[in-house]
Amino acid sequence: MGDILSVGIIGAGGIAYAHMRAIEQNDNIRIAAIMDIDTKRLESAQSRFGGRIYTKLEDILNDPEVSAVHVCTPHNVHGEQVVAAAKAGKHVLVEKPMALTLQECDQMISAAESAGKILMVGQVMRYYPVNRKIKQMISEGAIGKVGHLIRRRYSYFDTTKPDSGNARWYMDLEIGGICVLYCFGPHEYDILHWYMDSPVKQVYAQGTESTEIYKGQKDSYTALMTHENGAVSVLSQSVVCHFGAHDQYIIGSEGSLFLSGDKLMMNGQEVQVDGSSSEGMRLQIREFAECCLEGRQPDANGRSVRHSMAVIEAAKQSAERNEPVLVAEFE
Ligand SMILES: NC(=O)c1ccc[n+]([C@@H]2O[C@H](COP(=O)([O-])OP(=O)(O)OC[C@H]3O[C@@H](n4cnc5c(N)ncnc54)[C@H](O)[C@@H]3O)[C@@H](O)[C@H]2O)c1
Repeated sequence: MGDILSVGIIGAGGIAYAHMRAIEQNDNIRIAAIMDIDTKRLESAQSRFGGRIYTKLEDILNDPEVSAVHVCTPHNVHGEQVVAAAKAGKHVLVEKPMALTLQECDQMISAAESAGKILMVGQVMRYYPVNRKIKQMISEGAIGKVGHLIRRRYSYFDTTKPDSGNARWYMDLEIGGICVLYCFGPHEYDILHWYMDSPVKQVYAQGTESTEIYKGQKDSYTALMTHENGAVSVLSQSVVCHFGAHDQYIIGSEGSLFLSGDKLMMNGQEVQVDGSSSEGMRLQIREFAECCLEGRQPDANGRSVRHSMAVIEAAKQSAERNEPVLVAEFE
C-alpha cells in the first residue's frame, strides 16, 4: 500500500458528501469508487467527485483498487455491509450508529479482526477540537475529580416534511431504529465515557412517546449513568423539542466546565480552543487513512464504540423494564 489510501464510498447520500468533501481536503486519501442502489445519486456523486461507479455491493468490494470503504448507508444495513467488506479484505469506516444490534457489532468486530483490517466508527464528535480540549483538560486534572456531567441534546427532527433535508427512513423503526437513541444517541452516549476514559457501569433511563409523528417509538429519553470512576452523568435527549439545545456542564472538585456549541467556559471564563467543530470530519478521515496506511488502531475503533452501543442498549432496556440496568449484561 502506498502513501495514499484509495477508498470506495458505499451510499452516496447526505453524509457521504461530507465524507467525500473531507477526502478532498486530505492528502493521504482519495476516492476510487462510489456505490449506491440509486443510479441518479451515483451519477450526481460521480460528476462531482469522480471515481468508478457501481450499483452492487459485490462489485465495489471486488474492485482491486479499493483498499478501504466508507459505509454511509441507512442503519439496518451497516452490519451486513461491514462484514462483507471485511471479508473482502477492505478496511472499514462505518457511519454511526455502528449497528442496530450488539450481535451485529460483534460480527463486525470479529470479521475485521479475522481479516486483520481496521474497523473504525464515525464518532465524529471525538474529533471536534473542543471535545479533545475537554478530554485533555480532564486528564490533566484541570477541574480535579469529575463528579457530575449533565448533557442536553434537544431538537425537532421531522423527516416527513419535504423540506427537512433528511431522508424519511430515519423515522422508520425497522430501518433507523429508535430515532432519538440510534440517530442522535450514538454521538451523545459515546462522548460522555470518552471524555473521562471511564466506561459506564449502570444506566437508569426513562423515555416517553409523546407525539403522533413518532408513534410506536419513544421520542425523548433521560438517562442517569454511573461510571467506573464514580462520576455520574445525565444525558437528556429529545427529537420533538420545539426549542433546541445542545450543551453540557462538567462539574469537578476543583472547577467546572460549560460547553454550548463550540464555546467552552471554565468557571465562567472562556477557554481558548484552536480549531472548530467543522473540522471534525476532515480530522476523523485523516486518522482513518493514517491508521489503514500505518496498521494502527484508531481511537474510535470497533471495540471502543461497541461499549457506547451497549450503553444505549442498557438505556433502552432500562426504560422498558423501569429499573436500573448493569451494562455488564450486554458485554
Ligand atoms: N456523523 C454524523 O453527524 C452523521 C450525520 C448524518 C448522517 N449520519 C449517518 O450516515 C448514514 C447515512 O445517512 P444519510 O443522512 O447520508 O442518509 P441518506 O439517505 O441521505 O443516504 C443514504 C444513501 O444510501 C443509499 N442506500 C440505501 N440502501 C443502500 C444499500 N443497501 N446499498 C448501498 N446504498 C444504499 C441511498 O440510496 C442513499 O443514497 C447513517 O448511518 C446516518 O446515521 C451521520
